[in-house]
Amino acid sequence: MASEISNAPTRSMWSGKWAFILAAAASAVGLGNLWRFPYLAAKYGGGMFLLTYLVLVFTLGVSLLLLEITLGRKTRFSAINAFSSLDKRAKFIGVLASAVPFLITPYYCIIGGWVAKYLTASVFDGVGAISDGGGYFTTFITANSSFIFALVFIALACIVVALGVKGGIEKANLVMMPLLLVMALGLAIFTVTMPGAMEGAAYYLLPDFSKFCPELVIAAMGQVFFSLSLAMGIMITYGSYLGSKTNLTQAVTRIGCFDIGVSFLAGLMIVPAAFIAFGSGEAVAENSGPSLMFIALPQVFDAMGDIGGIIAIVFFVLVLFAALTSAISLLETCVSIVQDGLGKGRREAMVITFTFVAVMAVFVNLGYNGLSFIQPLGEGSTLLDTFDFISNSVMMPVVALLTCLFVGWVVKPKTLIDEIKTSSKFVLEKAWTVMIKYIAPVLVVVILIAYVAAQFGMFSM
Ligand code: PFF
Repeated sequence: MASEISNAPTRSMWSGKWAFILAAAASAVGLGNLWRFPYLAAKYGGGMFLLTYLVLVFTLGVSLLLLEITLGRKTRFSAINAFSSLDKRAKFIGVLASAVPFLITPYYCIIGGWVAKYLTASVFDGVGAISDGGGYFTTFITANSSFIFALVFIALACIVVALGVKGGIEKANLVMMPLLLVMALGLAIFTVTMPGAMEGAAYYLLPDFSKFCPELVIAAMGQVFFSLSLAMGIMITYGSYLGSKTNLTQAVTRIGCFDIGVSFLAGLMIVPAAFIAFGSGEAVAENSGPSLMFIALPQVFDAMGDIGGIIAIVFFVLVLFAALTSAISLLETCVSIVQDGLGKGRREAMVITFTFVAVMAVFVNLGYNGLSFIQPLGEGSTLLDTFDFISNSVMMPVVALLTCLFVGWVVKPKTLIDEIKTSSKFVLEKAWTVMIKYIAPVLVVVILIAYVAAQFGMFSM
C-alpha cells in the first residue's frame, strides 16, 4: 500500500474501503445529527425541513464531499499541502480550512463533556435529578469544575487517536458505529410507538409546503456543512489516507446515506417525544438549542416513568458515542495538519494537538464561569457561541467558497474528474462540474450573508 504514495511515505492508510466509509460516516454522525438536526427540523416545519435537507445532502453535500475526498486522495496531503501542491498561491485556503478544526474541537469537546456528565448523572443520580427544568444544567456549566468532564471526554478521544488510524480509529468505529445504529433504531421505534406519538411523527414526516421559506433553506444548508464535516479539512485528510482503487462516487453516496439515516432516526426519536411533552412543533422549537438535549429531553424521559431512566441512559450513551467518533475525527485532522504543516512526526504532532485542545477547552469553558464577563457577540453571549460563530458561520462558508472557486476555475474540475475516473465511472460529471463552478459558490455566499446578518440582528433565523 505505502509504495503508491510518493510524496508522503509514512502516511497512515485505511485498511480498506469500508474502514474509510465507516470513518467518514463516524465523523459525520455526531452532535449535529442528534442534537442540532432534530431541533432544526422541529423549528422549520418538520417534514418540509426533512425533505429540503434530503435534497441538499444529495446535491450540494455529496458534491462537496466528493470534491474534498478526491482532493485528499489525489494530493495525498491534509488541507494545507493539498492546496499548495496544486497551486502555491492557494496555500492560504488550506491554512484557513485547517484553522477550522482547531477552533471547533475545543468547544465540541465541551459539549461532549456535558453529554458525559449527563450520562454519569443518569446512571448514578437517576433521571429525576437532571429533569428539573434547567437548574441542574445551569449549576453544572457555571461551576468552575465543569471543565473536568470536557477533559475526560478529550482524554477518551485522544487515547483512540494515539492508537493510530488502523489500531485506534478503525477499531473504535467498528465497535461504536454499529452500536450507535442499533440504539438509534431502538429508541426511534420506542418513541413512535408511545401513546400520542403519531401526531408528532406526522408533523416530522409529512411535508407542509406552505412552510417553505428562505430561512428554512439557509438553516438546512448550514446543517449540511456541519453534519457532513465539510469545509474544515477533515474529508481532505481522510481522502489522503485512501487507497487508489476505492470507488469515490459510491463511497460519498454511502456516507451521505449513513449521515442522513442517523439524522432521520434522531428526528424520529426526538420530535414525537418532544411533541408529546410540549404539544406543538413551535413549542418544541422554543425549547431548542442546547436546552433541547440538556433541559427538555430529560423532562421527557422523566415523564415516561420507570422506563425513562433506562431510555435516558441508552440515549446519552448513543450521543456520547456519536460525539466521540466525531471528536476523534477532529483530533486526527488536527494531528495530521500539525504533522504536514509543521513537518513534525506523528508523536510530536499528537502532543502539540492534545495540549492545545485541552488548554483551549478549559479556556472556552471558563466562558461559562470565571470568564463569563467576556461576551464577544453581545449581551449574554459566551466564548463557546463566539467560537461556533467564527468557525461555522464565517470560516466554513468562506473556505467552501474559496475551495469551489479554486477547483472550479483555477485547477479546473477536470483535474479531479480524472482522479475520480481512475477508480470508477463518473456518470454525473457534467452536473458535478456545474455544481462546483456555479451553484455551490452562490449557495455558499447566501449562507455566509444570512448567518452574519442573523448574528447582527439584520435577519431573523
Ligand atoms: N459532523 C459532526 C456532527 O454532525 O456532529 C460534527 C463535526 C465533526 C463537525 C467533525 C466538523 C468536524 F470536522
